[in-house]
Amino acid sequence: MATKRLPIKQAALKIQKLRTSIKYHEKKYYVDNDPQISDYEFDQLVKELEKLEKQFPELITPESPTQRVGEQPVAGFKSVEHRTPMLSLDNCYTVEELREFEERVKRIIPGQKIEYVAELKIDGLGISTIYRDEKYFQAVSRGDGFRGDDVSQNVKTIRSFPLIINNPHEIEVRGEVYLPFQSFQKINEERAKMGEPVFANPRNAAAGSLRLLDPKEVASRHLDVFLYSIFIDGKEQESQWKNLKTLRELGFKTNPSSRQCSNLKQVISFWEEWREKRESLDYDVDGVVVKVDSTKQQRLLGSTAKFPRWSISFKFPARQATTKIKDIAVQVGRTGALTPVAILEPVKLSGITITRSTLHNEDEIKRKDIRVGDYVLIERSGDVIPKVVSVMKERRTKKEKKFSFPSKCPVCHSSTFRPEGEAISRCTNPSCPAKLKESLLHFAWRRAMNIEGLGVALVDQLLEKKLVENIPDLYSLKLEDLANLERMGQKSSQNLLDEIERSKQRDVSRLIYALGIRYVGERTAQALADYFKDIDSLAKASLEELIQIEDVGPKVGESIVFFFKQPENIELIKKLKKAGLNFSSMKEEKKGDRPLAGQIFVLTGKLSSLSREDAAEIIEDLGGTVSNSVSSKTTYVVVGDTPGGKLERAQKLGIPTLEEREFLKLIKKD
Ligand code: IVH
Repeated sequence: MATKRLPIKQAALKIQKLRTSIKYHEKKYYVDNDPQISDYEFDQLVKELEKLEKQFPELITPESPTQRVGEQPVAGFKSVEHRTPMLSLDNCYTVEELREFEERVKRIIPGQKIEYVAELKIDGLGISTIYRDEKYFQAVSRGDGFRGDDVSQNVKTIRSFPLIINNPHEIEVRGEVYLPFQSFQKINEERAKMGEPVFANPRNAAAGSLRLLDPKEVASRHLDVFLYSIFIDGKEQESQWKNLKTLRELGFKTNPSSRQCSNLKQVISFWEEWREKRESLDYDVDGVVVKVDSTKQQRLLGSTAKFPRWSISFKFPARQATTKIKDIAVQVGRTGALTPVAILEPVKLSGITITRSTLHNEDEIKRKDIRVGDYVLIERSGDVIPKVVSVMKERRTKKEKKFSFPSKCPVCHSSTFRPEGEAISRCTNPSCPAKLKESLLHFAWRRAMNIEGLGVALVDQLLEKKLVENIPDLYSLKLEDLANLERMGQKSSQNLLDEIERSKQRDVSRLIYALGIRYVGERTAQALADYFKDIDSLAKASLEELIQIEDVGPKVGESIVFFFKQPENIELIKKLKKAGLNFSSMKEEKKGDRPLAGQIFVLTGKLSSLSREDAAEIIEDLGGTVSNSVSSKTTYVVVGDTPGGKLERAQKLGIPTLEEREFLKLIKKD
């Protein structure tokens, strides 16, 4: 649709209106958790603004909502001194120790009534952000408390930070940048698929994200923030409770659970309550920060060299457990990476039975001196596979066995190769069955070619019976091949063949992703498909051409060129083409394929007919999203057996709930 170019005055007015409207809706969505329009309508506003700004680039300002994500990667981070040091907090672990804290306080300011604010201690990274002349000005990481890095560009991508505020004074806000579990999981899944090391916990992932040089990449990580301090021209309000209120009034995001407590007993109740409920949050908290409420009293109490005397962090017990390593196995992944895994004596850890724990790589085993038979302390953060924190060497009986990392692939016995400077050894055999198995599973995965029914058990049989020796072999499977396999009848075999047939028509971006090229995730695959339109042009592309594409840097580019140079991959592509797979870009997937687009689901309790992961995958596949916590944005809460607090919250907020039967109907699985 061709639109007339507006006179500049009118354009300026229109732009101003759009910015005000976008700012309002960003706050409603990201800060208040209470959206007023659909994502689609919001996107339309942004698009309209982008269009006008393109016509009138002279009207673009750094505070425009279109300017959150900088175009250019930054060269590095400037070191900046904090105007007042960002102190850390003393810790305590028991009610007894907390009482001692209060006694100390009372000794210094005797005879005064002490009131508190109790806040959740978010496990993220401290950040200080400054606003000047009502505008977002600078963000600095905590660093060593005295100096930090100027991470302004990266923090600007966090949508819950306003870019304009309604207060002309110099304002400094401090808080915690964190990564919600959901984003954390996504990042790790993607990294695992790429054969990159996963982050151990959301905090490390948040730290890694804040240090990225490319703001576009930071934006894709979906960091968030909770703020807890505010200084207006260097001054605080008369109490912490007032600080939080002022933050909210200016449009900053604060944690909704913070509570004013008129005595220590109430603080302890808050701690006990959240010790139980913390699993229901979609971010990691490791305790409660107890703060003397009155700023005047805070000043009287002052600080030691390291900690304020008016605040303490009352930690939750760690999600740790002790167990024994029964064995160490070595898995071979799709890229041939050898990963050692500890097989554990089963142990319960925050409600989940743990039987395995990743040991990352050879060096990690050496560094921690982990032996078979050792008792180890394991720890779980978030939803992640637990890790071994330490070995209990005092419990050794001398029967423990040192582990020697295999020099051959444990599956095909070919030699392995560990490039200099890398921590991971890889199997060198291009047709290693372990690699093939993982490649097939990746190829068939829902988000790739989406061949339903082609799971681990079936792939194992296909490989064992040598019915499949490479990916294209899938496309010449016959009914009788399948019907003779275990747990496969005529009907399920035919269904699978139909699924395989259907996969030939998938969009080319899915095929590119399904090939399993190192570093090419879904987003990159989509960008490649948009640019090249077909696989043959992609296969011929030079490094120079590839790095022209957004999302493709030299590392990714080289990996793509390398992939299409390998004779076995040239052969693979040829055979897939011959099998009749769609090699060129089609129209976008039909809307009808994504009937749950825009809908947000929360799952609680156990479903009888499918696992939580499968349910989540199906929802995502149909275009919906799955969230860990119930909010006003939630479309449905799916309720299984023995639901948790999420059901209560749904009822409180009036969110519709679906029983399993209703849910299956919705996803057409009944
Ligand atoms: S108050 C002097 N409040 O925990 C006041 N800190 O171990 C110090 N943190 O450096 C900060 N949630 O990065 C405060 N609600 C909260 C917090 C919090 C997380 C972090 C913060 C601080 C560290 C101290």
